[in-house]
Amino acid sequence: MKPFTWKRQVCLITGATGGIGEAIAIALAEKGASLILTGRNHEKLSALLSVLPGHHTLVCADITQPEGIDKVLSVCRAKAPTMLINNAGVAVTGDFTQTPEADIGRVITTNLVAPIILTQRLLPLLRHAKEAHVINVGSTFGSIGFPCHSLYCASKFGLRGWTESLMREYVNTGVRFLYLAPRATRTSINSSAVVEMNEALGNQMDEPAEVADALITQVEKGQRRRFLGLPEMLFARINGAFPGLVDRALIKKLPTIQQFMSSTEKETML
Ligand SMILES: NC(=O)c1ccc[n+]([C@@H]2O[C@H](COP(=O)([O-])OP(=O)(O)OC[C@H]3O[C@@H](n4cnc5c(N)ncnc54)[C@H](OP(=O)(O)O)[C@@H]3O)[C@@H](O)[C@H]2O)c1
Repeated sequence: MKPFTWKRQVCLITGATGGIGEAIAIALAEKGASLILTGRNHEKLSALLSVLPGHHTLVCADITQPEGIDKVLSVCRAKAPTMLINNAGVAVTGDFTQTPEADIGRVITTNLVAPIILTQRLLPLLRHAKEAHVINVGSTFGSIGFPCHSLYCASKFGLRGWTESLMREYVNTGVRFLYLAPRATRTSINSSAVVEMNEALGNQMDEPAEVADALITQVEKGQRRRFLGLPEMLFARINGAFPGLVDRALIKKLPTIQQFMSSTEKETML
């Protein structure tokens, strides 16, 4: 098999209009990959396309809708994709009992059901390539149940478990499944309340370009799982082995978390 090069990659990136998606698109275009960029905002997609080096394709689609997935697939059939980056995501934070029912479906569908369906539909095309990648963008909160982020955590825990299962199921095929878990990152998914909460808790926030660099290294090194931030990675591991320790640490922080998360602002994340 020829060695991996970005110049031979055709990468479908969901959520390309967002902070992390845009940074990934710029980084991969600079490496010479050919991109299929998706999001719901046509203006933002066009603006991104106009600054990227190379030739790329955009598809404006809502991936939570069957017709949105169909639209993405019909473009992909003509492009022979080798990589799917499931990056689109939304978040809702705050008191669970106050969360509107519609937000429950929106978070779980966007962050978990849509990547699962898109991946299942795209796999026959990916399997045409000798070597293909599916990279699922999770979160530190896919390993740590964080108060006032229950729906987001549910979606990202699900994404991590689903990725791990496929990593093992597809080990003898040419398709590699990778899981990338950013920690808090400076993008518009985080409301000002979340940013203030992170500052009050002393949580570091990365720049989107750092997440893009991590994704590149992860793919090049073939790392199945990558967690950004040493303290967050250790905290996630401790939570897996000794959850009681993390219960105590987070329960101590609960008043601070609730102080910021019980505000009226709902749309956020980590
Ligand atoms: N920022 C953080 O602190 C952080 C930390 C850990 C993990 N993450 C994860 O990183 C990923 C990217 O987040 P971000 O920080 O870059 O957030 P962002 O700036 O808000 O971007 C979210 C992206 O998702 C797209 N999207 C949302 N709903 C969609 C739908 N129904 N159909 C198609 N596209 C949809 C948005 O595009 P349109 O609005 O154009 O549709 C946008 O491009 C997410 O999976 C997030 O959970 C973020």
